[in-house]
Parts: sequence; structure tokens; C-alpha cells
Amino acid sequence: SKHLLGILVTFFVFLYCKCLWRGLKFVVRKFTGRCELQRICYNNKHGARRTLKIGGPAHCCLLQSALSVHPDKVEKTIDDIMALKKINPDTNPQLGISLQASLLQIVGYRSLVSEVEKLRREPYDCDNTEHEEMLMKLWKELRPDTPLTGRISKQWCEIGFQGSDPKTDFRGMGLLGLHNLLYFAEHDKATALQMLHDSLQPKHNEVNKPEWEQKNMDKAIGYSFAIVGINITDLAYSLLVSGALKTHLYNVAPEMPSLLHFQQTFCYLMQEFHRFWIEEDPSDIMEFNRVRSKFHRRILRQLKNPDMALCPHFSASDLHLVNL
Ligand SMILES: *[C@@H]1O[C@H](CO)[C@@H](O)[C@H](O)[C@H]1NC(C)=O
Repeated sequence: SKHLLGILVTFFVFLYCKCLWRGLKFVVRKFTGRCELQRICYNNKHGARRTLKIGGPAHCCLLQSALSVHPDKVEKTIDDIMALKKINPDTNPQLGISLQASLLQIVGYRSLVSEVEKLRREPYDCDNTEHEEMLMKLWKELRPDTPLTGRISKQWCEIGFQGSDPKTDFRGMGLLGLHNLLYFAEHDKATALQMLHDSLQPKHNEVNKPEWEQKNMDKAIGYSFAIVGINITDLAYSLLVSGALKTHLYNVAPEMPSLLHFQQTFCYLMQEFHRFWIEEDPSDIMEFNRVRSKFHRRILRQLKNPDMALCPHFSASDLHLVNL
């Protein structure tokens, strides 16, 4: 029985050591974060799936501090992480590249937020020639055949501003609203003109009704183009600031998301909102609030899918789509 006891003791010591070893390995892995990073990079395809995990709750202190570096320092930071973690770049060539791409996306998103914030805080200034030129350009893009009779003019209402000086309408979103509207008018001209045209027409589905019936329901589609553009800028802005746009931007911007990507997202939102508005068929502008929040919820739901990319039809080829 002494022999048996000896065997049992050896067995338990063996088990104990094994557990201890496993525990130790677990702690080491946790501590260096090595397996975690490699696992994330190898198990998730590039784009939002991977970058959201890397930017997620801390797995590794080194990476957490790397998330706040300047974009120009990203490459060097990745080299440092690889060296500190003793990951051989020759045997793991893809790891450095993947980490760098994800880190650039994270850092880029953050700098995009501050760039957009800066534009939003800049008020429209009538004494600034750059601002004035942008506004005039917006008119020319949307009303190419009608010259403006003056800087202050009732004509501004034709493109959906509220009064004779658009300046006051930019208040909520500052220059960001103007930048977005101008980008939309310049780069997605056909859609912008169609939207403007529709916003000035009698309600689409009533056009074909007999004339006597039309008279009773002689209401326009019900919203003002420029005002809606400024309001959808607000929507795009809050999607960006809340982080909801990460999914989309990480999927469409293989390196750094930029203002251009934000403006393209705005164009997409304008187009989708217009379609949604027609589908919802509100009786008048009083329903704007309801339609807008329903639209907002729908976009948020779509962005929960990590494979989601909000792609405007016009720039599908400009945007680097998910399967690079
Ligand atoms: C846009 O519309 C919503 C809902 O009506 C409103 O709460 C918000 O303040 C508006 N934003 C701007 C910039 O006008």
C-alpha cells in the first residue's frame, strides 16, 4: 500500500504541477497579450470585424497606449510592439501589416472626429471670402441657369433655405453643413438635383390623380432641400461622434478614414433619407421628427452588422470596398 500511496502522491503532484503550469502560461499570455493580438488578427477578416476588436476593451497595455499616437508614428509604434513582444516579423509577416492597418483606422477615425468637430464649430462668416465663395458655388451648382440677383435674396428659398440670407440657417452645424451640401451638389449632382426637384414638386403619388382631386391635395413633398441637408449633416455628425460610423468607415477606408469618406457618407444618407421619406409618405413637415428618428434607428440597426458598408451608388468605385 506504501507503493500505491507513492503512485498516488506522484500522480497528484504531477496534476498539481500541470495545473500550475497551465495557470502560469495563462498569466504569461494575459500579461504579454501576445496570443490575443495574434488571435484577433488571424481570426477576423480585415475591416470593421478586426479593427473593432483591436480598438475594443484593452487586451494589452502596449496597444492601448498605441491607440493615441499620432498617425505618422503608427508604423514605428507597431515595430516597437512587435519587438517588445518578441514577435519575429519574418515568421509573422502579416501580423505587423494587419496591426498597422487597424491602428491607422482607429487613429484616423479619431482625427476625423476632431476635424469634423472643428468645421461644425466654425460659424458661417459673411466677411470671410472663402465662405462666401462656397455659398455662391452652391447656388451655381444647384441653379446653373438662374443667376442670383443679390447676395441677400428671396431666391435662396428656391434651394430650400428659410429666408433671404442662408447664413442664419447654418447656425446648428456651422461650416460643416455648407461643406456637405456643396460636396453633395458637386459630386453627386444628379441625385442632388433630383432631390431638389422632388422637394419642389406637388406630391409625387398625387400627380396622376384627376385634376379636381389634385386641387384638394395640392401639397408639396413637404421639405426644404437645404434645411434637410443641414439636418442630415446633424444626423451624420451624431453617427460619427457616437462611434456608430466605425463599422462603415472601417469597412470602406482601408487606411485612414478622411473627411472625404464622411462627405460620401452624407451623400448616401441624403439619398436614403429622401427615399425613406417618400416611402413613409408623411402628410406634412410636422412629421419630420418622427420620420427622422425612425430613419436614424434604421441606420443604427444596419451599422450593428460588422460587415455593413453604407455605399452610395455613385462612388462605389471610389470607395475601396470590403474585399480588397
Ligand atoms: C434636426 O432635426 C431634429 C428633429 O427635428 C432636431 O432635434 C435637430 O435639432 C435638428 N438639427 C439641426 C441642426 O437643425
